[in-house]
Amino acid sequence: MIWLKYMIPKPLRSILRRQRQAAERRMLALDRVTDWSVLRRLRPYRSEFGGRRGKYIDRFYIEAFLETCQASIRGHVAEIQSDEYTRLFGKGRVTHSDIIDLNEGNEKRTITVDLAQSRSVPENAFDCILCTQTLFLIRDYASALRSLYTMLKPAGVLLVTVPGISPVVRGGLIAGEGADWWRFTARSAQHVFSQVFGDANVYVQTYGNVLTATAFLHGLVQEELTRQEVEFYDPDYEVVIGVKATKYVAL
Ligand SMILES: C[S@@+](CC[C@H](N)C(=O)[O-])C[C@H]1O[C@@H](n2cnc3c(N)ncnc32)[C@H](O)[C@@H]1O
Repeated sequence: MIWLKYMIPKPLRSILRRQRQAAERRMLALDRVTDWSVLRRLRPYRSEFGGRRGKYIDRFYIEAFLETCQASIRGHVAEIQSDEYTRLFGKGRVTHSDIIDLNEGNEKRTITVDLAQSRSVPENAFDCILCTQTLFLIRDYASALRSLYTMLKPAGVLLVTVPGISPVVRGGLIAGEGADWWRFTARSAQHVFSQVFGDANVYVQTYGNVLTATAFLHGLVQEELTRQEVEFYDPDYEVVIGVKATKYVAL
């Protein structure tokens, strides 16, 4: 029956997809977790990170990190997979925008490269690269980091987020190539980025607390927590790790 789907024109398919998502999210009213004793179970309360019911918890942190760093999202900006965050946080500062992807099925991409193959990437091209939730999918993440460094102009800024405490991401959720390879901590992120960018040029910020970590593992969504609960910061519970790395080139 999958062929039937492709007989529907693409714009109509996206409208139908959005309508279905909105309808599924309205079901949260019937499914909202208020009594956390329901979480005493061996399988998660919801699968697929709860995306059918509301906004992913990790997105709150990814967006908080990008908002903190938004002054660096300027000039020629590249983003992996889409330009969603370039548009959201780059505002009037972006002069040119590119979308990078290895996945040839991504029709929005303007540059096709495999970040793990550092010899094939454009050099000194970007003032800023947004690489959210991608590095953990690349087996040779060290090569990918070198590629990202090469692609930045001198003084260019790389903004990366990676999951810390998270369920394993299975194939269906990953567009194109990739599989869930890595989890980082603030410490390991500082270490691996410093090896490429230099210790002084790497800033690491973590996000999360025990409540949001538990909620995220069970597929609860932002709408089921208060803002104060989501924003509470406990450095021992790294749900999302944000890294800002600047390409410093000695004159
Ligand atoms: C899970 S998506 C995350 C990106 C998205 N901007 C976000 O915040 O969710 C990962 C993207 O990285 C791409 N990708 C995976 N491995 C890659 C590689 N080695 N080189 C370039 N892109 C890659 C995938 O095709 C996919 O589009």
